Amino acid sequence: MKIGNLEISGYAGLAPMAGVADRAFRELCMGYGAAYCVCEMASAKALSMGDRKSAQLMYMTGAERPCGAQIFGNSPETMAQSVSEVLKFSPDFIDINMGCPAPKVLATGGASLMKNISLAEDIVKAVCEVSSVPVTVKMRSGWDNEHINAVELAEKCEKAGAAAITVHGRTKAQMYTPPADMGIIRAVKQAVSIPVIGNGDITDGMSAARMLEETGCDFLLVGRGALGRPWIFSQINAYLGHESVIPEPPASERMRVMLCHIQKLCEYKGEYIGIREARKHAAWYVRGTRGAAAVRSEISNLESIEQLAEIAYRLSSC
Ligand SMILES: Cc1cc2nc3c(=O)[nH]c(=O)nc-3n(C[C@H](O)[C@H](O)[C@H](O)COP(=O)(O)O)c2cc1C
Repeated sequence: MKIGNLEISGYAGLAPMAGVADRAFRELCMGYGAAYCVCEMASAKALSMGDRKSAQLMYMTGAERPCGAQIFGNSPETMAQSVSEVLKFSPDFIDINMGCPAPKVLATGGASLMKNISLAEDIVKAVCEVSSVPVTVKMRSGWDNEHINAVELAEKCEKAGAAAITVHGRTKAQMYTPPADMGIIRAVKQAVSIPVIGNGDITDGMSAARMLEETGCDFLLVGRGALGRPWIFSQINAYLGHESVIPEPPASERMRVMLCHIQKLCEYKGEYIGIREARKHAAWYVRGTRGAAAVRSEISNLESIEQLAEIAYRLSSC
């Protein structure tokens, strides 16, 4: 797939996930064969006001590339202003968030742009005008079942200069639950000539193949399927590359990867923050292993890497 002049090889990228897809997780997923990744969303307004915490979300290293930086906002001027801040981190592309359903984000952008297509178009135009890297858009199928307008929005984004479109096949109202609608992704693919990236419910090689077959999309984006399972990218690559099925790793390997992930997290964010953020990741890693129920409350009160290593040791030998 080519996003503008950026060549991306492989099958699936790691979706932007606020509070999850940080440097440590992106690095890990790229190590397992993710084709690209996207930083956690950052507010264009906060970035253009020099907010350090928002800028830190864009920090990326060679190990995560190609890597996109994602911004959200509802003012073309502010979105364009934030681009110079974003470009300081040399992202490989800039992604505009038009899909986030969280109330705090809706008030200033995210999925609310799906209700205002001409504003969305102005935003894409304004960002494209000042960006030296390709600009992509990530959207949902629409606002709700009465307003499924991804095709119209995608056409406008393409006209405004977007280099690729990601479609999460659910409306804002659907949040994350009903199965993603493959039909709308297919319709967008048929309507535009830029690459279309299909997103929603990819959890293994077979669901990845189904997304490609049913939508004709050019590429895949994986979100929740990678939580506590960064190896999903090697499973998808093996299945789509040569139809081989890599089974889920045994508990000992899952625990090894978990510790490696949390060590990186603590290295990059310091142990105090890292270990608190590790609690949710650890809960995902132990899901499905024998003995997981017994360690649940320990994980939710986790205080140190040593404590996690001890839990990992216990579950590895279960
Ligand atoms: C914890 C979490 C955080 C997310 N944060 C973002 C975000 O920052 N930007 C964005 O565009 N989408 C965000 N999403 C949506 C995902 O990128 C993706 O579109 C959605 O989860 C559907 O894909 P999936 O079924 O593979 O999870 C988030 C999803 C989750 C679960």
